[in-house]
Parts: sequence; C-alpha cells; structure tokens
Amino acid sequence: MTRVSPTAVIDGIGSCLPPRVLTNEDVRRRGVLDTTDEWIRTRTGIARRRAAEDDISTGDLAVAAARAAQESAEARADLVLVATTTPDRRCPATAPEVAQRLGLGTVPAFDLAAVCSGFLYGLTVATALIRTGVCTRPLVIGAETYSRIIDPLDRDTAVIFGDGAGAALLRAGDRAEPGAITGTDWGSDGTGSDLISIAAGGARLPDPARRLCREDHYFRMRGREVYGQAVRRMTASSLAVLDKTGWPPAAVGAFIGHQANQRILDSVADRIGIAPRCRFGNLRDVGNTAAASIPLALADTAAHRRVRPGTRTLLTAFGGGLTWASVALTWPAAGPRAHPPEPRSTNSTKPRHTHRRTPSWTLSTTTS
Ligand code: COA
Repeated sequence: MTRVSPTAVIDGIGSCLPPRVLTNEDVRRRGVLDTTDEWIRTRTGIARRRAAEDDISTGDLAVAAARAAQESAEARADLVLVATTTPDRRCPATAPEVAQRLGLGTVPAFDLAAVCSGFLYGLTVATALIRTGVCTRPLVIGAETYSRIIDPLDRDTAVIFGDGAGAALLRAGDRAEPGAITGTDWGSDGTGSDLISIAAGGARLPDPARRLCREDHYFRMRGREVYGQAVRRMTASSLAVLDKTGWPPAAVGAFIGHQANQRILDSVADRIGIAPRCRFGNLRDVGNTAAASIPLALADTAAHRRVRPGTRTLLTAFGGGLTWASVALTWPAAGPRAHPPEPRSTNSTKPRHTHRRTPSWTLSTTTS
C-alpha cells in the first residue's frame, strides 16, 4: 500500500479586530491630508480600517486571535509563530509571551519578519515543520498595529494601513482533506529593500533620541514602485505554486491576495485568470493590515460561508524586503471564531528595572 505523505491541514481559524473604526474622513481630518473619501475608495478600495487604542498592543491582538483559532480547532498548539512588522518590543520576540498568555507552557515560540508576506511565510515554515515531524500543531499568527508606525501626515500610507490579527492552527493530515496545504512558493529580492522601510530603530540608525528626527521612525513606502512590484511578484509566485501543485488557474475556486489595494488584487487575479466570483477579501472594511491581511480575509470569508470546504484555493502575498509567497490549499472545514483584544494586566505592562531592588509590596500586588 502506498503511504500518503503527511502535509499540514488548517484545522482552526481565529481573528481579532480592535473596536475603534477610522473612516476615510477620520484619517483625512486627523492628518489634515489633501485627499478625499472618493479618492481613497476608488484608488485603493478602502472605506474604513481599525486602529488599536493606546493600551492595546500587537501581542494583545495576537493572543485573542490565537485563542479563537484554538477554540475553532478545539485543540492546543505545540509551537507559536507570530508574523509581524510591529512587535510589542524590539527585544524579546512577541511570540513567547503570546504562548505564555495562552497557557501553552514552554512550547517553542518565535517571531517572523517578512512584512506583508509574513503570514504566508509562516504557513510555509509551519508546513515544513509538520512534514519533517518537528511539531504537530503549529499556530501561525499574523498580527499588526500599524497605527503605531504610520505618519498621520503621510497620505501615501495613512490612508491604507489598519490594525488587526488573524491566526490559523495547523495539524498533520493528508492532501485529500479540506484545509490541506498542497503547495508553497516563496522568494525575496533585497535590491528593493528601500521601497518599504522604517529608517530608525535598527542597528544602522540605533540612536534616535539624540540624532534622528521623529520622521525616521515612521513606516515609509514608495507607493507607485511598490504597486508595480506587487502585481508582478504575486502573479509570478501564484503561477509558480499552481504549477507545482498541478492545478490550472481555471481550477481555482477561491482566491485571496494580500489586501494592499483593490486595484493590485484585481490586476493579479486578471493576469492569473481567476474569475471575479472566485475573489474574496474584506479590504474595504479593514484596509491593509500587513501580516494580518490574509488570515483576516480567510476568517471573514469563512464566517460568511462564502466558500465550500474542499474548494481549491490560492493565497498570495507581497511585502517589504522585498518578499513574496503563495500557498495552494483546499478550503478548510474549520468554523472561524473571533475575539475582542485581550489587553495585558496593568501590572505586567510596566517596565521592570532589574538594577533596582523591587520592594516587596510591589511583588505582592503583581502576583495578586
Ligand atoms: N489622496 C489624493 N491624491 C493622491 C493620494 C492620496 N492619498 N496619493 C497620491 N495622490 C495623487 C498623486 O499626487 C498623483 O497626482 P497627479 O496625477 O496630479 O500627479 C495621483 O494621485 C496618482 O498618484 P500615484 O502615486 O500614481 O497613485 P496610485 O494610484 O499609485 O495610488 C497608492 C497610491 C499608495 C495608494 C498606491 O500606489 C498603492 O497602493 N501602492 C502599493 C501599496 C502596496 O501594495 N503595499 C503593499 C506592500 S505593504
């Protein structure tokens, strides 16, 4: 008897959106931007997005989305991967604390930085880990709070980005099951690293408080050049993964592309040959949520039962780096769950100064 080689199967889907809604008019007024609701809707397809309140972090959104994914699968993860451009802190990674807050004990946990391709990079890594037996139930989370790194006065980015998180819990399974990942493709091109970047805060410009201006801390994007690259790379990567999987484009019944701009998504789908009725997403309501974009679209589409489990599905993404990735899978059977953000307790958000002795009364309040 031939043994079917195991692959990863999406077993649970979760999402979390912060409650505060920013309309196009809110964004225009806040930055006194020379733009209009009409321009933003017609040029990007975005009508509104979410913005996390000051006390809600990327980790808080990630924990809620991950908890929802675990409930959806009725199972617990044995590895946590957080794809994000907006980690809670530069050090350490956000993932270990997310794992601890989920009550997962000492499971391996790490962040992955591939900007808007992060979630599909994460699915690719998780699939390989399952296939090689390194873990059995990886949790892949895409979580972002771009509201913290966007310059409200920059109309190239302020009108596009939003906050949110989505997660998928995977397990080992076979290719015939709904939710099975049947092919992956990924790549990068560092010659385009300046097209999408934050100048300060890394090893190249590490001393912002004294030498750099506030502008250097903001996310910057050369929109028009990124647009061209996004269309080209997502199209090529999509065709590559379909080729590896052996699916002709006409066989694809569900397409979700990274929700950067509706015109980009339509252009990619047109070039691949995906019919309009097979294109799904919620860009209009959430904007570009970077690494959270694909899982939020998956969760929204699944919640509205728009796609039948088992339908051949194509996911594709493009982001800073430059990076890109595509995943072929069959539509999962999982019923998605959504949770509100889970802010950390006030005590644990306070920085600890280890060079000072902590008075005993502080310790007792922390643990109560
Ligand atoms: N409001 C009003 N007008 C704007 C504007 C805004 N927010 N942004 C640009 N414009 C103007 C420009 O000044 C230009 O005017 P002109 O014709 O008088 O010179 C015109 O609109 C077209 O500018 P252009 O830069 O070609 O716009 P665009 O259609 O490319 O849209 C972006 C700009 C940023 C929305 C678009 O390039 C984009 O979505 N880029 C990719 C984003 C992306 O994929 N990110 C993924 C990686 S995270």
